Amino acid sequence: MDRLSQAIGVTLIELPSVESTNRTIAGMAVRSELPHGAVLLAHEQTAGRGQRGRQWISAAGLDLTFSLLLRPQDMRADEQFIIAQVAALAVHDTLVGHVPGAVRIKWPNDVLVERRKVAGILIENELIGDRVGQSIVGIGLNVNSRDLDAGLHATSMCLETGGTLDRMAVFGQLMEHLRRRYAQGKEAPARLRADYAERLWARGRWADMLLDGQPASLRPMDVDGLGRLLVEHPDGSVRAHGLDRLRFAPFQGGMAVP
Ligand code: BTN
Repeated sequence: MDRLSQAIGVTLIELPSVESTNRTIAGMAVRSELPHGAVLLAHEQTAGRGQRGRQWISAAGLDLTFSLLLRPQDMRADEQFIIAQVAALAVHDTLVGHVPGAVRIKWPNDVLVERRKVAGILIENELIGDRVGQSIVGIGLNVNSRDLDAGLHATSMCLETGGTLDRMAVFGQLMEHLRRRYAQGKEAPARLRADYAERLWARGRWADMLLDGQPASLRPMDVDGLGRLLVEHPDGSVRAHGLDRLRFAPFQGGMAVP
């Protein structure tokens, strides 16, 4: 394993409470010289941030909320989806060691057990020219929370296993998987992408999606190097669409989306 992969989690800053670990580590990265691989773990977030401006709610002292600072050397901007694959697969790998249900990655980077969301990932990249200068990878993993809003289709590791978990042991396992997957992203990016594609939720099945805001039944097949989802359309054509145009339709009234 190379030096950059090994460095993940070596610097660990643990704080009792912050607004958002992504936000706090971004500030620290500007002010002090945090090294590549530094992790900020907070036992509570008072204003956790989710994708598309949403909130991320987690239970203080029960779940994992942390952010990882990466300064990849020589990663082109058009390769940045590797970081999302590394993070989603590392969370996936950690869960597989614990929960009996099927763990899947809902494109681009939600992690589900069966069809319930157990983890969310918020990645904020800073480009310098055509390179990724810095990446902040924020991960929220529901570990021991039990009181989850039924409407959110969420779950936690403890609800899936039926027992309380050692949260910091789970964190240690996740760090190890992040190191391993980061190394794979450098040494064998095609394998990383294939692993990610194999674990895609709804892969090969018709799913309710929104394309340009319009409901569409599409069949996820693969991802391309840019992280776009390759979907089969009802006319048999397979086309790649990015997050700017495509997303999964929200679950409705508990009805199953494949
Ligand atoms: C999502 O699914 O919407 C992404 C959620 C990401 C949540 C994590 S928790 C740690 C880090 N800090 C934040 O404020 N957000 C991310």
